[in-house]
Amino acid sequence: MKNIKTTPEAHIQHQLISEIEVGLLNITPYISPKFLYDPLGSHLFTAITLLPEYYPTVTEKHIFSEFENEIAHHVGLGGTLIDLGAGNCEKAKSLFPSIQPSCYVALDFSKEYLEDSIKKLQAEYPSIQMTPIGMDFSKKLSIPDSVPSNRTFFYPGSSLGNFLHDEAINLLRQIKSQVRGGGLLMGIDLMKSDEALINAYDDALKVTAAFNLNILRSVNTMIGSNFNIEQFRHLVKVNHAVNRVELYLETLEELTVSWPGHERTFQKGELIHTENSHKYTINSIQKLLEQSGFSSSTIWTDPKQYFAVIYAK
Ligand code: AVI
Repeated sequence: MKNIKTTPEAHIQHQLISEIEVGLLNITPYISPKFLYDPLGSHLFTAITLLPEYYPTVTEKHIFSEFENEIAHHVGLGGTLIDLGAGNCEKAKSLFPSIQPSCYVALDFSKEYLEDSIKKLQAEYPSIQMTPIGMDFSKKLSIPDSVPSNRTFFYPGSSLGNFLHDEAINLLRQIKSQVRGGGLLMGIDLMKSDEALINAYDDALKVTAAFNLNILRSVNTMIGSNFNIEQFRHLVKVNHAVNRVELYLETLEELTVSWPGHERTFQKGELIHTENSHKYTINSIQKLLEQSGFSSSTIWTDPKQYFAVIYAK
C-alpha cells in the first residue's frame, strides 16, 4: 500500500471540498455558512452590519456602551481576551479601554484577513500581547496551553445563532472547559416579529442577497464547479418551530451544475439551504448555558429586548 503524505493545509482543503460535495449531493442540498466568508463575502458581511435594517450590530454596540463599566466589573482587568471569529477585530478593540487585557488572541476562519487586522491593531496597542490564529473552531476549539489563564472568551454578534442546538452546546462546553478562571462574554439575538427579521435578512439594498448568492462563487473557487448566480435568488424564511431565520438559494430554472468527478441537476424552484440564524429568549439562552456547564450568567439587554449581552461563568 502506498503511504501518501500531504501537508496539513492540503488535508484541511481536502476535508472542506468533501464537506461541500456531501452537502451539494444531499437529497435536500445545503452549503455550510462558513463558505459565505470568502474575501468578498467577508466584506459583504461588513456591509450588512452597516445596514439600518440589520439591528443586531447597532443594538449590541449600544448595550456594550451603556453597560461598559458593569461589564468590565464582571470580566475584570488585565486578563486574556480570546476573540472567536475576530474578523476586523473592531468589536474587541472597543473593549480594550474598559477591560485592559494583557493578552489578546484572535481566532478566525480566514487567516489572511485576520493577520492584516492584527498588524494594524498591534501598532496601536503595543503593550498588549497579540496572537492571530487561523482556526475553524466550528468543529473543534483548541486554545494552545501557552495562552495565559483568566481567559475571557468573546463571542459577539450572535454568531452562536448560526449553530444547531447540539453544535452550540458542543462549542459552549469546549469554551467552559478552557476558560481557566475566566468566563464567556457573548452577544445573542432575541426572538422578535417576523417583519423585523425579514427586513434584517432581506434588506432593501439587497446586500444580504449578494452575500448569500456569493456563496456559490466561493464554492466555485473551492471545488471548481460552474454555478451561475444568475440562475438563483435569495430566499428568507422564519421557521417558528425551531425559532430561527433560514437562508436559502432558490433555482429560477432547471439546471445542471458540474465539478470534477460529479454533477447535480436541480429542478426549478429547488432550494439550497445556506444558513440558520437561531433567535433565543432570555430563558432559552440561560437554559443552553446551564446545559453546557455554566453555573451563573449576567444579562444586559436593550429597551426593546431585541438583543442580549451575556457574561457567563
Ligand atoms: C454572523 N451571523 C451572526 C449573521 C446572522 O445574523 O446570522 C450572518 C448573517 N447572515 C445574513 N445576515 C447576517
